[in-house]
Amino acid sequence: MEQWEKYPVEAPVEEPFRQQYFMERLKEMVREKSIEYGRPLTACIKTFGCQMNAKDSEKLMGILEQAGFKPSEEENSDFVLYNTCTVRDNANQRVYGRLGYLNSLKQKNPHMTIALCGCMMQEASVIEKIKKSYRFVDLIFGTHNIFRLAELLFLCYTEGRMVIDIWDGTDKIVEDLPAKRKYSFKSGVNIMYGCNNFCSYCIVPYVRGRERSRNPEDIVQEIRGLVKDGVVEVMLLGQNVNSYGKTLEKPTSFAKLLKQVAEIEGLERIRFMTSHPKDLSDELIETMRDCPKICRHLHLPLQSGSSRILKQMNRVYDKEQYLALVEKIKREIPDLSLTTDIIVGFPGETEEDFEETLDVVRRVRYDSAFTFIYSKRTGTPAAAMENQVPEEIVKPRFDRLLTEVQNISAEMCKKDVGKTMTALIEGMDSHDPSMVTGRLSNNIMVHIPGDSSDIGKLIPVKLLESKGFYYMGKKLP
Ligand code: 5AD
Ligand code: SF4
Repeated sequence: MEQWEKYPVEAPVEEPFRQQYFMERLKEMVREKSIEYGRPLTACIKTFGCQMNAKDSEKLMGILEQAGFKPSEEENSDFVLYNTCTVRDNANQRVYGRLGYLNSLKQKNPHMTIALCGCMMQEASVIEKIKKSYRFVDLIFGTHNIFRLAELLFLCYTEGRMVIDIWDGTDKIVEDLPAKRKYSFKSGVNIMYGCNNFCSYCIVPYVRGRERSRNPEDIVQEIRGLVKDGVVEVMLLGQNVNSYGKTLEKPTSFAKLLKQVAEIEGLERIRFMTSHPKDLSDELIETMRDCPKICRHLHLPLQSGSSRILKQMNRVYDKEQYLALVEKIKREIPDLSLTTDIIVGFPGETEEDFEETLDVVRRVRYDSAFTFIYSKRTGTPAAAMENQVPEEIVKPRFDRLLTEVQNISAEMCKKDVGKTMTALIEGMDSHDPSMVTGRLSNNIMVHIPGDSSDIGKLIPVKLLESKGFYYMGKKLP
């Protein structure tokens, strides 16, 4: 793949100094352009996919803002960046679909620069397709080099050609670059990057690379800074947080990191995402149980309830082990809300296998579950399996599962009506200007009468009514 290696002589070699240098250079160009156009230059980032991408987009917008761009939600902006996802094929199709629309906008605004980044760009076949059929794209980069946006955009502006910079992998973790947070009171915090699990259906290890943990000191320092800045809730992010710290020079555990983070004064709530069941330790369960700052929510992807399919998926646990783990967690932390991910139609899945999944769903009684139809990802072991399940069999199974999880989650939600819980108010209710929306410790949303002065506050609320997967409530006097 193309790699850009032409550096201006005066640019520092070391990061983050190099990017700071390019941010300044880019800023000069942005200033010149805005004088020329007689208005500020706008930048819009559209994020597809998971919390990791959302976090990356905040970093990318931080760089753009520092370079003088005005953040915008409009795709009609001077700089438009799609941060893409490729975990399932429909995510890719959505990007291709919207690119056509972007091209029509670019026809009307010749100053527009179009960029693509994120997981989808780590696939060679995608780059080929864009180079061939989407020539109007100006800049492409991947998941390992987002910190280089200023440098790449500078090059794009100075050379006026399509710039492509994709790295196969990296062992670098570049810290200390700006970020533009979406919320003032809560923030995601990367604790590790990549994944080493190679679940046989999953493309993530190929596009996000090998697992790399950040040093606990750097994480704690970042969170201290965020708290100083008004953040009360953090979400610790990693593909598999339970293996955090194992490969560090001074090995540590995720539970130990949680304890360190919990000590930060002024921080009220800690969440994390995602836990792989195979290495969820007793130490973690005890830490969650004993630390009130850690939210009463655990996302524990099941993927399938059939031990035979789990083996094919390379998940390294079976149905009984998963159920035993859930039992232990529920025993230790009875008010914990459990959520999960489930895939329907993995190659070779029979009606009996699917029934096993339904059985686990009924036994665990998840507070909510994300259900997915298996999507074949080129290059993964499952894509080469011969016994792919036809759509006409998968779709009815998916519908049955969805009905089951929705019924159960509605029942689970009902059980807390009448209770008082603390909600972190996140924003105005999108349907009713006299209401605000908050998140409970167990990750369920509640709508209460309120106004914008409530946003960012932790407020005790009484849960008055369940609406299936959220509540209507009121502030306590
Ligand atoms: N097909 C369907 N779902 C998938 N996921 C990951 N890869 C695939 C795939 N190929 C789901 C898993 C994972 C979630 C983030 O996406 O359930 O936990
Ligand atoms: Fe994909 Fe499995 Fe890694 Fe999750 S743990 S990102 S499903 S390979």
